[in-house]
Amino acid sequence: MKIVHTLAELRSALSAYRHPAVVPTMGNLHAGHIALIKAAKPLGDVTVATIFVNRLQFGPKEDFSTYPRTLEADCAQLEAAGCDIVFAPSEAELYPEPQSFLIQPPPDLANILEGEFRPGFFTGVATIVMKLLSCTQARSAVFGKKDYQQLMVVRRMVQQFNMPIDIVGVDTLRADDGLAMSSRNGYLSATERQEAVLLSQTLKALADAMRGGRCDYAALEAQAMSSLSAAGWKPDYVVARRRVDLQAPQPGDALVVLAAAKLGTTRLIDNLEV
Ligand code: PAF
Repeated sequence: MKIVHTLAELRSALSAYRHPAVVPTMGNLHAGHIALIKAAKPLGDVTVATIFVNRLQFGPKEDFSTYPRTLEADCAQLEAAGCDIVFAPSEAELYPEPQSFLIQPPPDLANILEGEFRPGFFTGVATIVMKLLSCTQARSAVFGKKDYQQLMVVRRMVQQFNMPIDIVGVDTLRADDGLAMSSRNGYLSATERQEAVLLSQTLKALADAMRGGRCDYAALEAQAMSSLSAAGWKPDYVVARRRVDLQAPQPGDALVVLAAAKLGTTRLIDNLEV
């Protein structure tokens, strides 16, 4: 496995290949990321992971400076998973000057749910993903469905800019108790880690109610928010949305339930397709 830090090195490492399959990450990798690498492997003739903690997608009060940087351990996991190239650029390499061209996703997608609680987040994500797909000459790119809205933003961006890249979504990997794998799970104390299962349980109860025919979405969402609050969480949202565009559903729509909530100081997100 080659580990490269500059664009020049990356271009030279890629020169022998025609179809890079790319997995963009911010590092601090866990089994969920490794599942993305495994999904990427059959999609191209070279598998590339990118590791870059992207300042642009963090709000001023978020964890940019404390986000774990674990390059050595990440590379060991990537190598074991069969990754061919790791692109781990510095900020100076990727943002040699302030990034003044930004990709602004449409407000109906970018200002709801995560975008409502993390203003500017999807502009930061779309801008870095555009850069990383361009730098790596991606022909396929793999993203986790845990970041459901992010996957939708990336799909629409690639479609609207006519980029010749297949965007592949991979199902969320979960711990045995149902907690979705996330780099931010590492922030949880031992007690919080045990309590964290409530988020996926709440979504499952919501999804089960809808599968059972209930379509009083507002009442179900309110009940789910209350059960999280009663257990000491601070929920930002628990909602049922239609899968196609994350807008409010009508009976008969294919649905996804999504939640974001803080447990202590750790904000977790999760979702389930109904
Ligand atoms: O999901 C992530 O890890 C990040 O948002 C991404 C896609 C690597 C962009 O920085």
